[in-house]
Amino acid sequence: MTAAGTTAPTTTPMTRREFLYYVWGASMALFMAEFGGAILWFALPRFRAGEFGGKFTLPVSEIPAVDAEPKDFPAGRFWLINLGPQRAADSRQPADYPVKEGVAAVYKVCVHLGCLYKWVTVNDRFECPCHGSKYLASGARTDGPATRNLDVFIMRALDANGNELAKTKAGDPTSDPEAGAPFALPEGTAFIEIDTGKRIQGGLNTKPGGGK
Ligand code: FES
Repeated sequence: MTAAGTTAPTTTPMTRREFLYYVWGASMALFMAEFGGAILWFALPRFRAGEFGGKFTLPVSEIPAVDAEPKDFPAGRFWLINLGPQRAADSRQPADYPVKEGVAAVYKVCVHLGCLYKWVTVNDRFECPCHGSKYLASGARTDGPATRNLDVFIMRALDANGNELAKTKAGDPTSDPEAGAPFALPEGTAFIEIDTGKRIQGGLNTKPGGGK
């Protein structure tokens, strides 16, 4: 009792159990905030259009002529190829990997250990300076320590309004020859869109080619 006759409010110290309960609650709140942030981070697009990892939209005028040399696009780290009857008749093409005529975007990193291979005009093929892997314009490996064909990116053919007319088939080229294969651009194609965030691994290919 106080001097005035009223009862002073009593304070009860926090028990160990209560303290642990609050610590646990705070930890859960922090965990949920981090978890939510992580979901947001992965949900947001991480690459802008026109930078590697994102999408590149090119007018058809950028595509090399049928059977011409591959065209280099350094910013996207790909070569554009346009295979026609001449490339299809290339005797160096491994018989197990017949050429599909059409356009494709080939990833410019060697599938052996990741060097940048180059187009060598005089030999009419890609050659890797690191360990000597060789690839035809089609992306087919013909020689060297690499054990598969070159990788390609998913490409879409779009009309002038951005509507999709055709698209690279996804899948595993080792079991599905249509997966990752070039395709002829449908009539009305105004643009191609290369998604450098979506890569298809080249099919397994350890057979020697005929044109070392
Ligand atoms: S990295 Fe290209 S052959 Fe080894």
